Amino acid sequence: MGVMEKMSMSNIDVEMIVPQDVENEYLDDLNDSYETVSEMTEEERQFLNSLLRRNKPKKLLEIGIASGSSSVIMLNAIKDIEGAMLYSIDRSVELYHDKQKATGYIVDNYPELKTKWKLYVGGLSFEFIEDIGGEIDFALIDTVHFNPGEILDFLMILPFLSEAALVVFHDTNLHTIRYPYFPQENPLSGRSIDLSSYCITNNLLISSIHGEKIIVNDFIKNDNGKIFFGNIAGIRTSNETKNHVFEIMNLLTLKWKSNIPLEKRKSLMAFLKKYYNNFYIEYLDKVFNYQDKCFAFEKSQKEKEKNNLLECKNSVELLSAEIKSLKESKSWKITAPLRLVKKLWKR
Ligand SMILES: C[S@@+](CC[C@H](N)C(=O)[O-])C[C@H]1O[C@@H](n2cnc3c(N)ncnc32)[C@H](O)[C@@H]1O
Repeated sequence: MGVMEKMSMSNIDVEMIVPQDVENEYLDDLNDSYETVSEMTEEERQFLNSLLRRNKPKKLLEIGIASGSSSVIMLNAIKDIEGAMLYSIDRSVELYHDKQKATGYIVDNYPELKTKWKLYVGGLSFEFIEDIGGEIDFALIDTVHFNPGEILDFLMILPFLSEAALVVFHDTNLHTIRYPYFPQENPLSGRSIDLSSYCITNNLLISSIHGEKIIVNDFIKNDNGKIFFGNIAGIRTSNETKNHVFEIMNLLTLKWKSNIPLEKRKSLMAFLKKYYNNFYIEYLDKVFNYQDKCFAFEKSQKEKEKNNLLECKNSVELLSAEIKSLKESKSWKITAPLRLVKKLWKR
C-alpha cells in the first residue's frame, strides 16, 4: 500500500458537532415545559438545535412526535427564519403512552410557535407526504427503532427530500443502552426487553444512507452503564443519495419485529410504485412474501412450544394422579412396614 493511500485512510470522514454556548443559550431561553416530556437527553436536544441553527432549513419534516417536545425544539429554531415551516407526522392521534393526551399536546404551551406548524396524525408518512410536497431540506425521523420501522419511513419520504437535505435519526445507538451492565427493560412498561439485538434500525440507516455523516462530538460516553455511543446522528444528502436505494432496500431482508397489516400494505405499494423503479417494487414484494413466511413460521413455532408445554403439564398431572391413587391403594398401605424396614436398613 502506498503512502498516499495510507494518508487517505487516516482522514475522518464524519462531521462532528460541538454545540456552541450561544446555540445552547438560544435553546435555554425557551420556556422549559417541553423538557419535562422530552424523550431526548439534553445533549441530544442541543445537537438537534445546533444543526438547525447552523443550517437554517425552510421546509422541515418530523416523523414521530409523541408529546411534541422535539417539535418545540424545531419550531423554536426556525422562528426567525422567514417562510420556514415544520410538518409533523405521527401515526397515532393520541399520545402513544398515555391515551388521555393528544399527540403533540405540549406544543399548545407555545402558541407563538404554532403558526409555523402543520400537524398530520393518524397515518403513516406515505399517507401525508404528497400533501406536504417536495423540497424538504430537514427531516427528523424518530419512530419505532426496530425493523422495518424507520427503513420504510425513510423510503416513503426519500423522493420528497431536496438534493442537499439534512436527515437526523434519533436513537441510533439505543441497542447499547444499559447493556451489558443490566438487563434491559422498556422504560414505559417496565417489562424486560432485549434492545441489544433488535433496536438496531437507526444505526443501520446511518450506515446505509448515502451522504456525509454527522455525529455527536463526544461520541464515546463514560462507562456509566447508560448509552455507550452518541444516540443521535445525521446525514447530509447529496445529488447521489437517490441513486443509492439498494443499500436501504437491502436492509429489509433482516429480521422484522412487526409486520405491516395487509390493508395498509396495498396502499403503501401503490404509493411506492409511483416513485420507485419496478425492480424495487418486485424486490419489496419478495421482501413482504419472505417476512410473511417468517412471521408464520415463528407463529407455528410458538404454537408448537405452547402445545409441548401443555403436553408436559398434562403428563405431570396424570403421573401425580397415578402416584396419589397408588399411595391411597390398599396394597401400598399393607406394604408400608416393608418400605420402612428397607429405609432403616439402608442407613
Ligand atoms: C419515540 S416517540 C417520538 C419522540 C419525539 N420525537 C420526541 O423526541 O419528543 C415515537 C413516536 O413515533 C410514532 N410512530 C411510531 N411509528 C410511526 C410511523 N411509522 N410513522 C409515524 N409515527 C410513528 C409513535 O406514535 C410515537 O408518538
